Amino acid sequence: MAVRQVLTWGDPRLKIKNQDVGDWNPELEQLVEDMFETMVAQDGSGIAAPQVGININMAVVDISGGSDPNQKVVLINPVIIHEEGEQTGSEGCLSIPGVQETITRPMKVIVKTRKPDGTWQELTGEEFLARAFCHEIDHLNGRLFVEYLGAVKRGIIQRKYQKQQKQ
Ligand code: NI
Repeated sequence: MAVRQVLTWGDPRLKIKNQDVGDWNPELEQLVEDMFETMVAQDGSGIAAPQVGININMAVVDISGGSDPNQKVVLINPVIIHEEGEQTGSEGCLSIPGVQETITRPMKVIVKTRKPDGTWQELTGEEFLARAFCHEIDHLNGRLFVEYLGAVKRGIIQRKYQKQQKQ
């Protein structure tokens, strides 16, 4: 087990296309464990593989932040197949430390996702879990949550963020 380095806003690896996960193997198993450990170490509720520099369609979510093993979810080649309702709330990202913004997301989503054994399952997420699923799947599509903000607001946050990073 190891905590991996998390790439931050501006790193091109957060924006490039991610490959679908193929056959399961011990290396992927290790990556999943490391991603959960990295997420907990940084007080997150999810992390996507590209955030640790591995450009594949895989993410982990645990809205208990590591306190309830039953809430660990591994998303493999996930696709949102249904969304309904709306929620507006505060959101942050391990790749943009120190930035929290109000973002509107669906209240409920159904995600089709592969299991390590190659079979597929459908997972339903509501409220914060729906937000976490959407946030992580966005990462797999090269999208960061600040991209939902208007260009002016995003520009202000980006300049402030870059200044902070230099200190
Ligand atoms: Ni994120």
